[in-house]
Amino acid sequence: MIETITELDVLRARVSEWKQQGLRVGFVPTMGNLHAGHYSLVMLARQYADRVVSSVFVNPTQFGPSEDFTRYPRTPEADMGGLEGAGCDVLWLPTVESMYPFGVELAAKVHVPGVSSVLEGAYRPGHFDGVCTVVSRLFNQVQPDVAAFGKKDFQQLAVIRQMVTDLAFPVQLLPGSIVREPDGLAMSSRNQYLSAEERPRAAEIRKTLLAMREGLVAGTPRAEVEAAATQRLSGVGFVVDYTVVRRPDLSEPLDGEVGPRVALVAAKLGRTRLIDNLEW
Ligand code: PAJ
Repeated sequence: MIETITELDVLRARVSEWKQQGLRVGFVPTMGNLHAGHYSLVMLARQYADRVVSSVFVNPTQFGPSEDFTRYPRTPEADMGGLEGAGCDVLWLPTVESMYPFGVELAAKVHVPGVSSVLEGAYRPGHFDGVCTVVSRLFNQVQPDVAAFGKKDFQQLAVIRQMVTDLAFPVQLLPGSIVREPDGLAMSSRNQYLSAEERPRAAEIRKTLLAMREGLVAGTPRAEVEAAATQRLSGVGFVVDYTVVRRPDLSEPLDGEVGPRVALVAAKLGRTRLIDNLEW
């Protein structure tokens, strides 16, 4: 039976009880409206921990002023049932007041330079500050041994990895594979914003990523591959933020350089902004 906890004292008591028994604690932070991608992270955490805590908190500090904070989908009952089914022991539900006791304006902030400033960071200024600010608080609240993050948010994982190393959080990160719909669209809470007419076109992102890999592997210059990807997505009605090929640390590879790569795409279809990536 899953236990829902809304008070920090109660959470701390539960976690220290487990630790006294020598149990390892896993953690999966989320913003709710959970789907198979989130549940796969709970199952991943279970493989490395004896107990799993998931948090649901729609974090105001990571949304820009024109973003979807107020209309972000909230489905608490379904989330609770799904988490229980996935093997989660505790659902941690902090309030905005307990997460930011001095208010959002006076909150101590965590900023990770460099990797936070490119791509998503450039299109969503302050976004990763909000993510790091809340994830560092959640780590202090839950004190997990391991924490699972999805590779769907490839850059978020890179930013959090840097934060964990730099601030010496005693947490082992577990990267989770991207869970997709049958047509290849990466699962996301934002997919439900897509209209019935837009939804099939959204699968073009995955096809574009596969074409980017194919082009690069065949030796096509990176700039050409990136431009062709933008053209392909624009052609089916996307407004493209970026289509890029990077090293895994998100720096730009040199021409002719070989090594592991990741293609990353961010594009809007109507009012829905989608991101996805592919590693090889
Ligand atoms: P949220 O968007 O709810 O995602 C929670 C976790 O689920 C993240 O680690 C994300 O990468 C992962 N995830 C989402 N879709 C996925 C998919 N299709 N396959 C695999 N994993 C997927 O990311 C956040 O919340 C927030 O920024 C948070 C880290 C909770 C801080 O507020």
